[in-house]
Amino acid sequence: MSTERQGLSSDKKWDKQTVVVHDCHDERHFGAVTMPMYQNSLFTFSCHKEFYEALDSPLEHHLYSRGNNPSVNELERRLALLEGGEAARCFASGMAAISAAIMSAVKAGDHVICVDHVYGPTREMLGNYLHRFGIETTFVNGESIESIEAAVRPNTSMLYLESPTSMTIRLQDLRACAELAKRIGATTIIDNTWATPIFQNPLELGIDLVVHSLTKYIGGHSDIMAGVIIGSHERLQEIGRHEFLLYGGIMTPQTACLAMRGLRTLPLRMERLQQNGLAVAAYLDELPYIARVNHPGLTTYPQHELAKQQMSGYGSLFSFEMALPLEQVLTWADRLQMFRIGVSWGGYESLVQVVRPLAGQEGEELVLVRLYAGLEDPELLIQDMRRSFEQLGLS
Ligand SMILES: Cc1ncc(COP(=O)(O)O)c(C=O)c1O
Repeated sequence: MSTERQGLSSDKKWDKQTVVVHDCHDERHFGAVTMPMYQNSLFTFSCHKEFYEALDSPLEHHLYSRGNNPSVNELERRLALLEGGEAARCFASGMAAISAAIMSAVKAGDHVICVDHVYGPTREMLGNYLHRFGIETTFVNGESIESIEAAVRPNTSMLYLESPTSMTIRLQDLRACAELAKRIGATTIIDNTWATPIFQNPLELGIDLVVHSLTKYIGGHSDIMAGVIIGSHERLQEIGRHEFLLYGGIMTPQTACLAMRGLRTLPLRMERLQQNGLAVAAYLDELPYIARVNHPGLTTYPQHELAKQQMSGYGSLFSFEMALPLEQVLTWADRLQMFRIGVSWGGYESLVQVVRPLAGQEGEELVLVRLYAGLEDPELLIQDMRRSFEQLGLS
């Protein structure tokens, strides 16, 4: 991590906590300790010469906030630094970033390979929506590089990854995927929301573009919707000119300031969340009526070795498969007091979601439950789950 870009000379490599908290004294803002919110739609010029220069290259100037805005740019700079990328562009939501990244890598007639169990709207976009533009997607078992390789066609232009996936928590071998994609001349995109830049840096493993839903851990307080794409200057210039400026799904300056506040405590929160998630997952892993706990940090998890190779830590979102009737699982979850029922994750609050079986799968033996361990005392989370099991007569 370069310290030069932070305006401080030091031989020591910066740790991620320092990167997210350090600001230089900046005379432009009267020494204000936080980056001010530039709540303006346009920027004005002292003469037409300057104005025309900005019109000619809007991505290099401050012209209009559906382009560059200093508050948003500051967040972009920090996210790029943290993820080990050269450049970043922020968007109005994770999905806005994902769809922009995808559109930047495909054209009519292309073929895409995407991993199974990818985030639902991403799957909808690749599997259905893009058909209207003549783009076809093959969904593959991402745990097997052979399955990915077998799906390659002469017109494959993109490999879309999400590691780990956010419902079934399945990993892909990122280095192997990047190598394969380079061999066939395809672009690799990964949704890195689960691991965050604190625990996984896919660009260092050869992936081309990283996307995050900042709505989750980076925002960290369940009060913003936001997304980002991070990668090389060259790719981000292209995205800037096209999907960013033309679709207009930009981030507001207020959101940028809130995301920056979240970012300052991200490493600290991730450490605590990791501990909480592992404690809760380990408790569940011992229960006889739980068939499998999908948490890559557990030594019992089939992809634990791969997880250790490419991640330096774990998020606290995981799932488990219960060998109990659906009605009983729903009653157990509804009676929890420390876990709220809802979508999303990455905030301070613990969440539970019994995954609704698909039509035709109602009678399945195993019920999938997704759990997000928040920042509460993990002992209280475990007590709460134990009490609810006991109320069902289970110990
Ligand atoms: C793994 C993953 N990626 C992307 C998204 C989309 O992000 P957003 O809700 O910010 O559009 C989500 C949202 O739940 C997600 O879980």
